[in-house]
This record gives sequence, structure tokens and C-alpha cells, in this order.
Amino acid sequence: MAYRVIIPAAGQGKRMGAGKNKILLELNQLPIIIHTLRVFEMDEDCEGIILAVNPQDEDEMKSLLDKHQITKVTSFVSGGKERQHSIYNALKQVGQEGIILVHDAARPFLDKNLLRSLIEAAKTSGAAILGVPVKDTVKKATGNFVAETVERTSLWAVQTPQAFRFSILFEAYRKAEEDNFLGTDDASLVERLGKDVVIVEGSYDNIKLTTPEDLYFAEAIIRKRIE
Ligand code: CTP
Ligand code: MG
Repeated sequence: MAYRVIIPAAGQGKRMGAGKNKILLELNQLPIIIHTLRVFEMDEDCEGIILAVNPQDEDEMKSLLDKHQITKVTSFVSGGKERQHSIYNALKQVGQEGIILVHDAARPFLDKNLLRSLIEAAKTSGAAILGVPVKDTVKKATGNFVAETVERTSLWAVQTPQAFRFSILFEAYRKAEEDNFLGTDDASLVERLGKDVVIVEGSYDNIKLTTPEDLYFAEAIIRKRIE
């Protein structure tokens, strides 16, 4: 099933504290963004990548794509203030029906089989996301006082990619802008339209590199894959 993918890469990486955009840091001698892009470069169903980048990273990003022979990036768009704005900028460039994915540049360990299952689910339902069951006990609190222990069996930690019929995602983003709504993922904007979103069980390996200790886990995942 053919699809396009938007990759937001225009963050600052503040929580990583590396003094530059974390997606340019290297893992196993390869920038994180290249690990992420390669999954789609090697997937024959991927018809194009729209990359949201910061103006200050654009030259470095373009030379990395050349160096590592990434050929499927069809357009670059400027990042916005928040992730959601970066993605809306990119969505305006797609202008085409079909399946559209959104996948964070900072999630380099996406498995191709999961990608396939996710796209199949989006084809049928219009909106599908990857998620894993929450392992920790989660509590709601008021300040430092527990207000409630949340029933865990119904909790999922959701990831990217998230996959949609283009018209659904575009309408969701348009409406979010109109209402000044800021979500923390793409599906939350679609949920506001009253549409069903399907969860496809993903992998605990599909981590987002957010804080410095995530890099230790990343090294371990790479070692496991090489062995
Ligand atoms: N992103 C983006 N545009 C923004 C903010 C984030 O394209 N204005 C991208 C990031 O580059 C990343 C993804 O969205 O690939 C997920 O965001 P996050 O993990 O929060 O990355 P950063 O925003 O860079 O990190 P931080 O929040 O710690 O500054
Ligand atoms: Mg951020």
C-alpha cells in the first residue's frame, strides 16, 4: 500500500541538552535522522518524505542526505513553533489523497513489519497509531498528593508513526488551528473530530530519544540488532 510520510525534525532537543538538535547526534556513527530516514528509504511502498527542518539545520541536513544517499525526500518545509505547527506546514505541501504517515525524526528504531500492519489498519479505518501497553502504575496527582490510581489495563503509551487517510488528517489539523487546540500527538486532533482511531500494538524498542539516558537504551537496541 503506497503512502507518504511527514517527518518532523525541526525541534531544538532541549531535554536532550546536547546544545544542538538531538536528531543530528550520532548513534553507531550514523546521525539519528539518517537511521530514521533509512527505514522509509528502504521501504518500496514509501512514495515520498516531507521533512520539516529548522532553517539553521537545513544545509547540514541536505548534505547528510547526499552523503547517505537518501533520495526520497521530495520537499523540505520550515519548522513551526511547536511540533504541531511543523506538521501542519508539511501537510499543506502534500495536497494529495492517499495514506499519510507522521513519524518523529527522533524515533530511529521503527520495525518494517509494524509499519506494514499500521498502514493496513489505516487503510481500513482511516486512522491508526502504534502503541504499547503501559508497564508502570500511573497515578494522577494534585501537587505531590495522589488523587487517583488510574486503571492500568486500559492504558497505552502511544508512539509514532501514526497513519491516516489524508483528508481526515488535514481536516483535523485545520480544525485544531481554527480552535487554537494544541495536542501532543496527531491522533488527538483526529479524535476531536469524533473519528475512531485504531491502536496497533507496537514494540517497546520503538523508543523516542528524548533525554540523555535514552541514548544508553538506543546503544543497547543497536547492539541487540547487530548480534
Ligand atoms: N519537532 C518539530 N518541530 C517542533 C518541535 C519538534 O519538527 N517545533 C520534532 C522534533 O524534531 C522531533 C519530534 O518533533 O523529531 C518530537 O519532538 P520532541 O521529541 O519533543 O523533540 P524536541 O522538540 O526537539 O525536543 P525538546 O522538546 O526536548 O526540545
Ligand atoms: Mg518538543
